[in-house]
Amino acid sequence: MNTSPIGIFDSGVGGTSIWREIHKLLPHENTIYLADSKNAPYGPKGKEKIIELSRKNTELLLQKGCKLIVVACNTATTNAIRHLRKNYTVPFIGIEPAIKPAALQTKSKTIGILATKGTLSSELFHRTSDLYTNGVNIIEQVGEGLVPLIENGKIDSPAMDKLLELYVKPMIAANVDYLVLGCSHYPYLIPKLQKLLPTHVKIIDSGAAVARQTQAILTQNNLSAQETNRGNCIFYSNRNPKVLSDIIQEEFTVEALDF
Ligand code: DGL
Repeated sequence: MNTSPIGIFDSGVGGTSIWREIHKLLPHENTIYLADSKNAPYGPKGKEKIIELSRKNTELLLQKGCKLIVVACNTATTNAIRHLRKNYTVPFIGIEPAIKPAALQTKSKTIGILATKGTLSSELFHRTSDLYTNGVNIIEQVGEGLVPLIENGKIDSPAMDKLLELYVKPMIAANVDYLVLGCSHYPYLIPKLQKLLPTHVKIIDSGAAVARQTQAILTQNNLSAQETNRGNCIFYSNRNPKVLSDIIQEEFTVEALDF
């Protein structure tokens, strides 16, 4: 039994959507979450910069004794996870857009994906999407501007409504029946997206799948904490702890930390 924490990082507050799924499935695990909000958004940054930031976050989590690291950011996963796995010995879990289930289940043979520029232009995304989307039309949309609004606590704002409307319009016109959320910030936009999309359009994100994968890898590596443990969760933000605590809405410690 191993009570060392699971480390989770994201470019900001969005990866808490992944943390939530992990905490729901594994409430006995201790977790440490890093919101690198000072450097958000990662999406428009190049691969080298994303690798550098991912290394910085990884090293801090390792210093804090983490036994496994969840890269709760599609942009960091698609650009940096290969590098991280090569250079550090702890297991890494990544998050990628859930293209496969959407492509397998679509009836209109058209699916939409909303993600960052960094994810949509990555080699890993293209490899996965080429593998599963034969005969399926994919409407790719860069969610430019969405992450900065979420990072500034502006989910409910006219600017957000305007951008979302702009981004889903071409998808509706193309008759998508699935919308894949390829950024861990976007699950916080689901209520708004549901209002904009026709009711038959299903929205999928990867949070629950990442939590199941985390559980499997902990078990395989004999790293799980005992189920009687009550998981303690600590959150660090290097920019705006208030936005982070507003988004998690739970009684856990949120601290400012420069990293
Ligand atoms: N949550 C990150 C992701 O999943 C946001 C990327 C960004 O900072 O642009 O891609």
